Amino acid sequence: MALLDIKNLTLYIDTGDGTVKALEKVNLSLNEGEIRALVGESGSGKSLMVRCIIGAIPDYWSIKADRITYKGQDLLNMSYEQRRQIMRREIAVVFQEPTSSLDPSVTIGEQLMESIPPEFIDKGWFWEKAKQRKQIAIRLIHQVGIKDHDKYLSAYPHNIPSDVGQKIMIAMALASEPKILICDDSTRGMESTTKTQILRLLMKLNKTKNLAILFVSHDLLAITSVTQSITVLYCGQTVESAKVKSLLKRPLHPYTKALLDSAPSFQMSLPTKSPLKALEGTIPTLQHLPSGCRLGPRCPNARKECVSVPAPRAIQEHIYSCHFPLHLPEKSRRKSIARPLGMQDE
Ligand SMILES: Nc1ncnc2c1ncn2[C@@H]1O[C@H](COP(=O)(O)OP(=O)(O)OP(=O)(O)O)[C@@H](O)[C@H]1O
Ligand code: SF4
Ligand SMILES: [Mg+2]
Repeated sequence: MALLDIKNLTLYIDTGDGTVKALEKVNLSLNEGEIRALVGESGSGKSLMVRCIIGAIPDYWSIKADRITYKGQDLLNMSYEQRRQIMRREIAVVFQEPTSSLDPSVTIGEQLMESIPPEFIDKGWFWEKAKQRKQIAIRLIHQVGIKDHDKYLSAYPHNIPSDVGQKIMIAMALASEPKILICDDSTRGMESTTKTQILRLLMKLNKTKNLAILFVSHDLLAITSVTQSITVLYCGQTVESAKVKSLLKRPLHPYTKALLDSAPSFQMSLPTKSPLKALEGTIPTLQHLPSGCRLGPRCPNARKECVSVPAPRAIQEHIYSCHFPLHLPEKSRRKSIARPLGMQDE
């Protein structure tokens, strides 16, 4: 059973011009100890998915889903208090631009100690509890690779470099010893050495603590070396999901192929100075969503059938949503070596 399991999630947002499906029938699963990447260009709905998982959506938005479960428990229909407990202890998030989530008027040490759940502290006098909190904070800060704890625990957020801020946010997220860590494009804008350092740290935590990680990223290139599986999102629809090796070797969806073609490192055979391929056009806004497959207006393979939303199909663990997938001959498509994604895949 998957640790986190999302099936056919649709998110309705009122844009002022009417209600739109900002996410449409998206699927995502994360197993215990797994590292999965959720990738897609800017505006594809990655952060909206994170908000749906943690339940951080305004009352005037609405969600419909066949299921959103954590350890088999229905997140959508549980009480507010039950869901809050799960979010407080088991699922942690490091958001985009992490340091902006820190309070500028409070020291790093105080904020880190504050994030330690009270149940981790033994009973005793307040000075004993304070001492214990500090010891845990020091351990957490060492765990994320910061050695000079005195310097950073007493610092204010504006006094620390952004890579240290990022590590502090990870330390805070780890304070509750979660089962799942969601990193919402938190390495965006970092220079590559810092990015590599953070990704290595997360891989280490995955191995040593069996921490399941969902990397949300617009940068396919940066995460392929650290992730085991990838789910690709385009304009609020999940278009492909597979193990990294299978996805890189044989992308079945035209959008995934375009993402790979636009990244120089995946184009070994390309002579130097050759232009990189890219899909024409840009991702539509929520007010101008095409009907059916949302890649339609930009897709080189689009045909009239694409005005209907393609249902997900699977070849072993490789899942795609496209009427005319790449690499599959027409005949086998019709006979379908791929099966509709049924309950056995979920
Ligand atoms: N609070 C909101 N109200 C209305 N529309 C929103 C809101 N938040 C996001 N959107 C729209 O939903 C779509 C998806 O946004 P989202 O922030 O999830 O994209 P993203 O994939 O995380 O992009 P990025 O890589 O830039 O972070 C976009 O068209 C965005 O404009
Ligand atoms: S369903 Fe049609 S428009 Fe969508 S990706 Fe496949 S071929 Fe392109
Ligand atoms: Mg985002």
